[in-house]
Amino acid sequence: NWTTGNVIDEQVALIREQVGTKRAICGLSGGVDSAVAAALVAKAIGSQLTCVYVDHGLMRKGESEQVEKDFVAATGVQLKVVDAEERFLTALAGVSDPEEKRKIIGREFIRVFEQAQAEIIAEAAEGEDVAFLVQGTLYPDVVESGGGTGTANIKSHHNVGGLPEDLEFELVEPLRKLFKDEVRMVGQELGLPDEIVQRQPFPGPGLGIRIVGEVTKERLDLLREADAIAREELTAAGLDRDIWQCPVVLLADVRSVGVQGDGRTYGHPIVLRPVSSEDAMTADWSRLPYEVLAKISTRITNEVADVNRVVLDVTSKPPGTIEWE
Ligand code: XMP
Repeated sequence: NWTTGNVIDEQVALIREQVGTKRAICGLSGGVDSAVAAALVAKAIGSQLTCVYVDHGLMRKGESEQVEKDFVAATGVQLKVVDAEERFLTALAGVSDPEEKRKIIGREFIRVFEQAQAEIIAEAAEGEDVAFLVQGTLYPDVVESGGGTGTANIKSHHNVGGLPEDLEFELVEPLRKLFKDEVRMVGQELGLPDEIVQRQPFPGPGLGIRIVGEVTKERLDLLREADAIAREELTAAGLDRDIWQCPVVLLADVRSVGVQGDGRTYGHPIVLRPVSSEDAMTADWSRLPYEVLAKISTRITNEVADVNRVVLDVTSKPPGTIEWE
């Protein structure tokens, strides 16, 4: 019979058998799947696992801290954090095209991750073989990719840019038989914080594809504030389970006239894109209560400098995608 306890016991035994006395690496994205996969492997092999978190500076407010502090506190895992914000911002400077942004973010991510892998291998003691890479592949990913095993590119759409193909690692995929809701239950049972276990989908390229226009530190900080307000109010209104996700988008290349205090302003619009969906393939715009929208709008225009307008995206998918880029 299926219980989270049984799944955990079974996987812990399998992971121990697979990895033996060797070492494993796991990349954390801040999302549910990699966190639960890492927590399971940590439970099985403890300090033989090293996690890597590449902070690309494109995360939402508080998300990096959730990984660096709360996840580590909950699992006791060894974590290597790479602060790569400058590197990503430099690479993204002057770029507005969405596909170009994705390519750059994916490419830089792989380079930084490979560098971290190389350092972990170099730091390993004599005779310690770093032979395994942990991935949070779920059952639907396995089905989608034709059920193959051992390939590192199964989740290339969902991962940041996918992983390099010439890996010398064997994969450990403890979530291969699980659906998302089961993964969340396992994560909860393993004691992971709710903010991680219940997290809604968030794209690998992060806020980099939620700024229409060039990505700069100032714009990211502004968007982080607006996004934090929207998330706070949606949570306070108890709507987290009703919506699939709510991208908050900064139209950095657009300005409109407003009046704030006793002066004319010329600021940027923020777009709210709340959607309802089953699997992100199709989606409908969420009919959020007007009071909640009003609160978010008032707070964002009052609290976020340089934003003087909040607009609601009422497009379904298709024809609109969920993200704006
Ligand atoms: P779209 O915008 O294509 O998004 O309707 C569908 C779902 O996928 C997420 N998304 C991504 N996730 N890397 C990711 O890991 C990406 O490059 C990416 N692009 C979109 C999006 O948030 C939505 O849940």
